[in-house]
Formats: sequence, structure tokens, C-alpha cells
Amino acid sequence: MPKLALIRTIKPKNNDARREHRNVVLTVCSPLPSTSIRAKQVQNLFLSLALHEDTLMPPQPSQPELIHINDLLTVLVRSFLQSAPFGILRRTRMLKAQHNEFITHTGPGTPMGELFRRYWMPALLTEELPSNDCPPVRVKLLSERLVAFRDSKGRYGLIDEFCAHRGVSLWFGRNEECGLRCPYHGWKFDVTGQCLEVPSEPVESGFVRKIKLKSYPLVERGGILWTYMGPPERRPPLPEWEFAMVSDEQRFVSKRFQQCNWLQAMEGGIDSSHVSWLHRDNINKDPLFKGAKGNRYNMGDMMPAFEVVESAGGLYIGARRNAEEGRYYWRITQWVMPSFTMIPPRGGHTVHGHFWIPIDDENCWAWSYDFHPIRRITDAEREAMKLGKGIHVLNRPGTYFPVANKDNDYLINREAQRRGDTYSGVEGIAMQDASLQESMGPVVDRSQENLVSCDNGIIMARHRLIRAAKELADRGVTPPGVDVAHQRVRSASVILPPEQAFKDAAREALTVRAGVAPASV
Ligand code: FES
Ligand SMILES: [Fe+2]
Repeated sequence: MPKLALIRTIKPKNNDARREHRNVVLTVCSPLPSTSIRAKQVQNLFLSLALHEDTLMPPQPSQPELIHINDLLTVLVRSFLQSAPFGILRRTRMLKAQHNEFITHTGPGTPMGELFRRYWMPALLTEELPSNDCPPVRVKLLSERLVAFRDSKGRYGLIDEFCAHRGVSLWFGRNEECGLRCPYHGWKFDVTGQCLEVPSEPVESGFVRKIKLKSYPLVERGGILWTYMGPPERRPPLPEWEFAMVSDEQRFVSKRFQQCNWLQAMEGGIDSSHVSWLHRDNINKDPLFKGAKGNRYNMGDMMPAFEVVESAGGLYIGARRNAEEGRYYWRITQWVMPSFTMIPPRGGHTVHGHFWIPIDDENCWAWSYDFHPIRRITDAEREAMKLGKGIHVLNRPGTYFPVANKDNDYLINREAQRRGDTYSGVEGIAMQDASLQESMGPVVDRSQENLVSCDNGIIMARHRLIRAAKELADRGVTPPGVDVAHQRVRSASVILPPEQAFKDAAREALTVRAGVAPASV
């Protein structure tokens, strides 16, 4: 019985063939004959296989890989059954229910929760704690209820929300004289959660020293207060995302509450194919998007071809559309584990991206940033961002809850939809996304999906997450994206000749280069 199959790629013979994919030669050890099929099929086959085999992850079709022959046979049989004329069998359960739970739950002790706890995550905007001894702020992250405060010396703290005495919420606390004092009986805690005073007990008893609340570090960088909720001995260096390292004048950051699980929100961030539909009317009108040459390619080709390649920290997700003279317009999204997404830029506009951070299993924070590596954000751009243009939203004053939301049907305007002002009737790119993602329910049932080739980025991201969470749980392997080198990456939009693989041709464009403008069309 043969053991292994060798897969290698051969370049397309006809470089002008718009929809041709690279051919792949499957050389199977005796007794099966060699066969040649299209790479796209192979990639889909492997993805299908990976979805049904917990341990096997999808290899890249462009890289030589060895797989077990039994796995290959499974692939081929599945492929046969799913192909015409067996269309009735095409519908496939795409993610088992237990995998869906595995990948979406992030509370304490869950595998995905432990994964998230290995990263620095945005917890608050710096503006939420504007001055020493300002009011504390409730923070819920990864299903843990916490309270953040800034003490009399300007130190930031993120501690258990509930008083160690009898459980009062310290959000009601008095922030005074280097500590947060519970108003019920006066117990007082510092930014590390250490109890400083228990007024009813004699100081000599030493009782106070034995009381300490759970706490996490809270550190300012790039207009954001970041926290790390994992084991202290595994705390990585501070994050070095490019947008957070530039000057304040070059950056704008916002956040909004989203009423669904973090994963379905994040999957919108790596789903480049929806842009030509849902946001089609915004691309040429939004002040932060319009005028870019790339917009024409975006709207001129509604069937982009996707190529997804693993990067050190996550994935490069390349969407390929036709440009002039047989060349391709590539939009390359970066996904960095576990939930950081970078949107390809447009023309000379600012560059944007998101962090999708779980509040609990049914809500998340959608963090949105804009920045430019080599220039300040203009007053007009900043004003537009504050008004909810681009990827930002208009929040209710004094809150991070969008004005258009689930309770008012996102202010959907059917007339505007009919006129073609907005494709979905909802105003603004971010709320167009949020409305549809929230409409899927708090946690979408992924076992009922029917995924297609343009979902490959999503499929591969899910599997990379599952694999990393398992490796962390089983062997303590540090997940991708923790290393700051994995964070020094850029998204890009480029035009390339057809024979060039995007990940090679755009290698420089996909890394941070100080003082160099982003690669953008
Ligand atoms: S409950 Fe906080 S001091 Fe008693
Ligand atoms: Fe979107």
C-alpha cells in the first residue's frame, strides 16, 4: 500500500490566461497513476480534508508537501462526490459544532481563551482615563469583569471589578490618594490589586497584606491602553504595530461595541470579496476611500480570485482582479493572530485596520485605526473619521455604542437602497458590516454554512487558530503573532505581472519600512 503523495506545482503555460490557476502535479506512489488537476481544486480539496481531519492542516498548494496516502484518497473521494453530476451531495457541513464552540469561546480556561491571553490586547482608549484620579471604567474582556483606573500618580491599573470584602463593584469606588476605595466599608486597593487599607481591622494584624485582587498590567501605547491577561512569566514585549509606533498626528483610533461573537466580526475583516457588493456604493463616495485608481479595478471585476498564503504571524490573503494589459491588481490583506486585520490601502489615503477583541462570547469590541506611515492625518480626514466615515462609526455621545444599532434596525433606509445610494440601505461601511454580522445571531452556527473558494482566507484562519490553540494547550507552544517581528507587517495594493506570485513580488511591500510610503494603488 502506498504511503505518501508528493505534490508540486508547475507554472501556467499561458500567462495571459485570466482565470487559469497554477497546475499541480499529484504524484502518487504506486499503484495509483499520476494525475494533474488545478491548484484551486487542490487547495479546496485540502481545505475540505482539513475540516474533517482534526490533525491535518491545509498545506499550501504552491509548496511541496507530503501527506499520507489515506488522507489523499479521502480528498479524492470527497472531491468526486462533490463534483457534478453529484450536485446533490455538494452541500457540506463546514465546521463541526464542537469546533465552532472551541473556536468562539474565550472565557477563562477555554483553549481559545488561553490563546488570547498570550497577546497584548487593546483594553481601553487612552481618552477613557484622561487624568489622574478620574472616574474608574468598567472593562469586560474575555468574559472577565474588571475595572480600570488611573491613580493619583498617573499609574494605570486593571483589577477585578469586585471588592474582596463582599463583592461590591469597584466601579462605584472612590479613586483617591493612590488607590480605589470601596464605598461600602472603605477597603482600598492599588493599581496592582493589592489591598492597602481595611479600616475595621487593626493595622498590627497584618490582615491587609493578605488581601490582593486579580490584576493585569495596563500600558499606554499609540493612544491605546493595552493589557496582557496571560501568565506573568510568559508576558511578551509590548506590541509594535506600525500604527501604534507613529506620532499622534499620524494616527486616529476608535472603537465600537459589536453585538456578536468576535470571530464572525473578524471574519468580515478578512473577507475581501464582500467589498465589491456591500460597500460598492461607498468606495467611490466615502471621503477616505474615493478617487483611488484601484477602485476602478475593484468595481470592474466582481469575481476576484483569492490566494491565501501562511505568513509567520497569520495569513496573507491576496485578492486578484484584472488590471490593464493582462496584469493583475492585487489587494493583500494581512491577518495576524489572533484577531488583528490590516486592510489594503487605496491611493494616497490613510491605511486602516481592525482589532476584534472578545468582550464575552456574544459581544466584542471592534477597534478601528487609521494612520499614514509618512504624513500626518489632515484636519479634514480626522473630522471625517470622527463623523463615522471610512471604517469608523458615529457613536452615541460619551459612549462607544453606535448611533445606528440593532435596536433601531441600523436606521436602514430602503429608499436610499432603491436609489443606489447604499447597497444595503445602511449608512457607513462599519455599520454595513456590523448590521449583517449581528444579523447572523450572537454566535453563528458554522456547521450550517456552505463555503466557497472566496472563503479560503476564513477557512485557513479558523484552522490556524484551532491548531495554535491546540498546540498551546498540549505542548505550551507560543502562538504566532506574539513575536513583535510578526507585527511589523503591512497590507498592500499592487499591480503585478501575471507570472509573479503576489507573496514574492510584494515581499517588501508587506513589511514595515520606516519612512517609506505604503504600496498602494
Ligand atoms: S464590600 Fe467593599 S469594603 Fe465591604
Ligand atoms: Fe466590510
